[in-house]
Amino acid sequence: MFSTSLLKQKFFWLITISILGISAVQYFFSDTPDLQEIDRELYYFPIFVAAMRYGMRGTMIALAAVYFVYIPFIVHTWKGSIEHQSARILDLIFYFMFAFGAGYLADRDRRIRAELERNRLIISLGRITSAIVHDLKNPLISMIGLLERLSKGKGDCMTYIPVILKDAYRMKRIVDDVLDFARPVKLNREECSLASVIRQAVEMCREKAEKAGIRIGTDLADIQTSADSFLLERALINVISNAIEASSRGSEVDISLRRDDDSALIAVRDHGSGMDQETIDHCFEPYFSRKKGGNGLGLPITKRIIEAHGGQVEIRQPKSGGTLFKIFLPV
Ligand SMILES: Nc1ncnc2c1ncn2[C@@H]1O[C@H](COP(=O)(O)OP(=O)(O)O)[C@@H](O)[C@H]1O
Ligand SMILES: [Mg+2]
Repeated sequence: MFSTSLLKQKFFWLITISILGISAVQYFFSDTPDLQEIDRELYYFPIFVAAMRYGMRGTMIALAAVYFVYIPFIVHTWKGSIEHQSARILDLIFYFMFAFGAGYLADRDRRIRAELERNRLIISLGRITSAIVHDLKNPLISMIGLLERLSKGKGDCMTYIPVILKDAYRMKRIVDDVLDFARPVKLNREECSLASVIRQAVEMCREKAEKAGIRIGTDLADIQTSADSFLLERALINVISNAIEASSRGSEVDISLRRDDDSALIAVRDHGSGMDQETIDHCFEPYFSRKKGGNGLGLPITKRIIEAHGGQVEIRQPKSGGTLFKIFLPV
């Protein structure tokens, strides 16, 4: 209990000072029995605080401290009357019973809390694992089906191979996302042009946008900064993909880059379905997805990458509909 870090704790001082204060009143007002009577009851306070803060071990140490100052006082003021003597002995017994009870309850409460926390972890681990397995299962089943047909000489290789390849890439993306999320973000910073990083991310989403009939418009200022261009591109791809997925055919996704005080502001604006409050509140939590086939890792990964750069992500709901993602990066 008495480690150096403990000495810095306010509870340690609260307990120590109250024991010393109560004892000082006992010693200095030894001819005022009424005051002493009330003062003695106050010893329960530091014992209780020690139980709540440090559990059984802390309570027993606080009790030892109380005994350490109180027993010499009893010896010093030992009087002949049997009532007086038994009252002092009873004090010591009651302090012990109280300390033991409070320490036991505090320890039991801690154990229950730790158990609950462990259970919560196991439940969320199970949820995450089943979400990953579920994501991997669909492309895997499709691949097995196609490969089985091919192995029996049915179907056409040239038609099946691109489908199998697409499923394999889908599985790879899921594995990459999970790994990205599980690993701590390590930045390889280099001086780079943010406009180039954005253009690169747009290129990666071009095919997806064309298939969905979405036009991507860009308005990019020339801003240089030190960043991990690879990770930044990944973060942007996630946001742009979401914007495309939320948009309806024929609409536009606008991406702009400009200076905003001492930050660079990347804005990704779509005119799609928009986000309700529940989605805004939870979309940065891992595995939160409202899409069929979505894995809910895109935005959590984006947020981690941007925050690792010292930046932040904000979501706005423009009055005219759609969603606006604002990414601030320090420059
Ligand atoms: N531009 C957007 N417009 C509407 N909803 C969005 C947009 N971006 C993200 N969302 C919502 O946030 C959820 C989480 O996004 P994300 O983490 O990328 O996971 P996923 O795309 O796999 O669902 C999405 O399922 C979607 O409901
Ligand atoms: Mg996504």
